[in-house]
Amino acid sequence: MRLQGKVALVTGAGLGMGRSMAEMFAREGAAVVAMDVTARDADDTLALINARGDCMSAVADVSDSRQVAAVYAAVEARYGRLDVLVNNAGIGSAPNDGYDKFYERMGLMNEQLARGETPTVHLDHIIDMQDDGWQRVIDINLNGLFYNCREAARLMIRTGAKGSIVNISSTSGLNGTGAVHYCASKAAVLGFTKCLARELGGRGIRVNAICPGPTNTRMMAGISPDYAKVMIQSIPLGRIGEPDEVAATALFLASEDASFFTGQTLAANGGMHMI
Ligand SMILES: NC(=O)c1ccc[n+]([C@@H]2O[C@H](COP(=O)([O-])OP(=O)(O)OC[C@H]3O[C@@H](n4cnc5c(N)ncnc54)[C@H](O)[C@@H]3O)[C@@H](O)[C@H]2O)c1
Repeated sequence: MRLQGKVALVTGAGLGMGRSMAEMFAREGAAVVAMDVTARDADDTLALINARGDCMSAVADVSDSRQVAAVYAAVEARYGRLDVLVNNAGIGSAPNDGYDKFYERMGLMNEQLARGETPTVHLDHIIDMQDDGWQRVIDINLNGLFYNCREAARLMIRTGAKGSIVNISSTSGLNGTGAVHYCASKAAVLGFTKCLARELGGRGIRVNAICPGPTNTRMMAGISPDYAKVMIQSIPLGRIGEPDEVAATALFLASEDASFFTGQTLAANGGMHMI
């Protein structure tokens, strides 16, 4: 029961790793706030975790600062505190970002690599990227994380909580593998995390990041067999990750087990990228 008596908010808790985190944190004794942009998914997660009746679901688009602020007002009204925030909500692509063409070219490139050939395909993603497609990924993956950290910091500071903030970045933020808007947003998360850790350290609030590698969620569903084969060849443990493996890393950082960790990045990626 490593989160006994704690209040923990997880963004993007309706599916994937966010749902795994909500389930694991609730099993560890936390009152979990399962936030998602999709009400049905947030409620489904709540139905899974609410055994003691002290969890809640919340609906907000993280890229809308007013919707985010409203959730924290509801959290303060119900619990009077917040101890843990996991910024997990994120997207890999958006309309008008040229991702379809990028993905098609990536598929051709991986087919060539899988055949042992030198790739002749150029990805050229940036030439197809429209302003709004770029902006949507930055709005959710980076601005959304900022809005949540700001509200969490305001609440933690006001109530004197020695809280823990965990930001979900990606291997793409470390090594630039993937789409340019996604990599940029996830690399920015790491800089943001280090700066905020310095800012809030004196108050006993810890801020850390996780860089998952390819993980078995909706985000990975539908990748071509050739793409999967090439990807797995680059992972020393020889497989993609499971959502519970990222959730366990988040639980560690959220809990007192990680009491001397701040500003750090843990790479839950099977050794795909070593930092
Ligand atoms: N799956 C992977 O291979 C992988 C690898 C590295 C990093 N990540 C990161 O892990 C995090 C979780 O990814 P996942 O694979 O579980 O994805 P997922 O698509 O399975 O789940 C993401 C959840 O976030 C929610 N969400 C999306 N936009 C939102 C918004 N604007 N406001 C609130 N909620 C929103 C979705 O509704 C969904 O419930 C993301 O930040 C992602 O970038 C994933």
